[in-house]
Amino acid sequence: MEKKIIIDCDPGHDDAMAIILAASAVSDLQIEAITTVAGNVGVEKNTKNALRVCELAGLDDVPVAMGADRPLIREFLEASHVHGKSGLDGTDLSEQPFKEPVNQYAVDMLIEKLMASDGNITLVPIGPLTNIALAIRKEPRIIPKINEIALMGGGTYGNRTPAAEFNIYADAEAAKIVFESGAPITMFGLDVTLQVLATPDKLDELKAIDNPVATTVADMITFYAGAYQGQFAGAALHDPCTIAYLIDPSIFELDHVRVDVETKGDFTYGMTVVDRNGVTGREPNVNFAYHLNPDKFWQLFMDALRSYSKS
Ligand code: RIB
Ligand code: CA
Repeated sequence: MEKKIIIDCDPGHDDAMAIILAASAVSDLQIEAITTVAGNVGVEKNTKNALRVCELAGLDDVPVAMGADRPLIREFLEASHVHGKSGLDGTDLSEQPFKEPVNQYAVDMLIEKLMASDGNITLVPIGPLTNIALAIRKEPRIIPKINEIALMGGGTYGNRTPAAEFNIYADAEAAKIVFESGAPITMFGLDVTLQVLATPDKLDELKAIDNPVATTVADMITFYAGAYQGQFAGAALHDPCTIAYLIDPSIFELDHVRVDVETKGDFTYGMTVVDRNGVTGREPNVNFAYHLNPDKFWQLFMDALRSYSKS
């Protein structure tokens, strides 16, 4: 049976790759909608990028709805130093996508689709959690309607600060609302996403795939790798981990643990406090991905890109 998903994103190169993986012929996921949120760059640019990626991946019928243009409380924080001014620098995707966003606020679309569902929609937030938090606060009745939240964010260490990963750090108050909501959460943090590096041999394998989607993904990784140079062996494919898990859960190893979000600390704001050893005695609320089989991930990713047509 097809799994229905809503991707909430801030494209962003790795967001784009997550959408492309989900839309591929090797995926059994049905993309109900794509919602966008302020994150890597401003929400208008993220929305335009989502439309551009939909055009590339042939997602003509998937509604794209624009969401929050800033975090709940803190000031807006972006990551254009990683993704470029456009949010998708280094690609030649169409400047003016033919596809338009729907005339509905993303938060309202999330609520509408979840309330109309029979509880079989999985949310896939791969940017700051502002939209998800707003939807939960506006309509708490969506919580039992959420099949699962498979999110990219957090970890036992950070990348924006020593303690905090960008998606959480960009709106820790929103993340706190989501992590305390009671919805079933599967968390793909840096502990596992930094095990998925597009090393030069992977990029060469990608460049050898002869179709426009694979070529564009190779361009994306080539640009995006700049932010990882000198520190990592290649660009990290953070966001695609969520989609790979939904397609083939056996790729990942998970622990059911307690995770709380720090919103007060001078040095720890945005930290996901992962209680791996159960020392707090607090009720576990997250399936925490701590390891993956990189070969299975890359096999899936390359098969997905090979499944796109040449024209
Ligand atoms: O820390 C990595 C996360 O921040 C990814 O979702 C990337 O797209 C950026 O949003
Ligand atoms: Ca993202």
